Amino acid sequence: MVLVNENYLKLSENFFFTEIEQRINAFNLIHPNTHVIRLGLGDVCLPLPDEIVSAMENAAKEMGKIETFRGYGPETGYRFLIDKIIKHDYNSRGISLEANEVFVSDGSKADLGNIGHIFGRDNIIAITDPVYPVYENAAIMGGRSGYLTKDNIWSNIVYIPCTEENNFTPDLPTEKVDIIYLCFPNNPTGVALDKTELKKWVDYAIENQTIIIYDGAYCSYITQKDVPRSIYEIKGAKKVAIEIRSFSKTAGFTGLRCSYTIVPRELMGYTLMGEKVDINKLWRRRATTYYNGTSYIIQRGAEASYSLKGKKQLQKNIDYYMKNAAIIRKELLELGFHVYGGINSPHIWIKTPKNTPSWKFFQQLLYESHIVCTPGAGFGQFGEGYFRFSGFNTRENTIEAMERMQVWRNRI
Ligand code: MLT
Repeated sequence: MVLVNENYLKLSENFFFTEIEQRINAFNLIHPNTHVIRLGLGDVCLPLPDEIVSAMENAAKEMGKIETFRGYGPETGYRFLIDKIIKHDYNSRGISLEANEVFVSDGSKADLGNIGHIFGRDNIIAITDPVYPVYENAAIMGGRSGYLTKDNIWSNIVYIPCTEENNFTPDLPTEKVDIIYLCFPNNPTGVALDKTELKKWVDYAIENQTIIIYDGAYCSYITQKDVPRSIYEIKGAKKVAIEIRSFSKTAGFTGLRCSYTIVPRELMGYTLMGEKVDINKLWRRRATTYYNGTSYIIQRGAEASYSLKGKKQLQKNIDYYMKNAAIIRKELLELGFHVYGGINSPHIWIKTPKNTPSWKFFQQLLYESHIVCTPGAGFGQFGEGYFRFSGFNTRENTIEAMERMQVWRNRI
């Protein structure tokens, strides 16, 4: 008799974004000719820059010749990409890193879940709320969540509220926690932390021997100067933080899959006996055992995102999405919504009118205006009563969606 990992039985049947897709599919089935505008999932729509495309074409051609064919690559990434990551994303901001502190992977979503493998099961996990649901799901699958309380939250997870009252800026936990997931600029609220705020978290982690898992998926969307792009801009962070970054939103790689995780050599965990353990070594052991490296072709594409031309074109794409976000922000503010984010992030976080529950609002908007939003409740208990729009659509669709919002607003 095979026993299953019963932690999986604690999860809802569908992952949040799968549930949304199913509801959209159901709508499309009944209304096949309706033009649905998706401002929900944070998926890019602009094509890849020529530089990236031709780098991948060349890499594919290399694979077709005996002299340049490549089999398994280094499990943790080719040096040509790692060196570019260090130079452009870190050295340029005064941060030094060694090549063996960078682990290239095929998407940050996988790393965010997999990282739990190298930590003991009894660690107390803290997450801000609302937040990207993968962190909580990973804690549940990994057996770290405890039981579901009558308030519908997990007994062993510490939830740190980000609400209108605290400007969606989390306060430090009042109890001692072992692992904290931080995502800034935040998904879903779009709110970023400035240096002073982020320093509080690093100081807390140093004082409490806590590890921060810092999800920087949206760092390229930061526009304000005092907002750090990397947690390592804060003194001491290398002692306490793992940083996970994706090429998805930065370079339009949602369909290509490439990311990297920084695990500094200074970062230590502990055995039950209190002996120090080098976390970097554990992550390397895991990566080399379970992974055979991101595709050579994709890594060449990622490398090209750091070329002068590639960077320029990608910045243009980012500006385009941010302009969409600005349009959404402005239009919804004018329509009287409570609107947050959209300044250092392509995500805009909006209060539903008349305290409508967010899933109900999602359905209303889909069926009445044919617009897809992301319901806030899927990001946590403090997301209830909110919805998220993202700037990842064409300008035409964004403008049309806002026109539909105006019509819808006038009706209610
Ligand atoms: C989102 O829409 O929150 C994200 O794009 C989903 C993801 O990155 O997996």
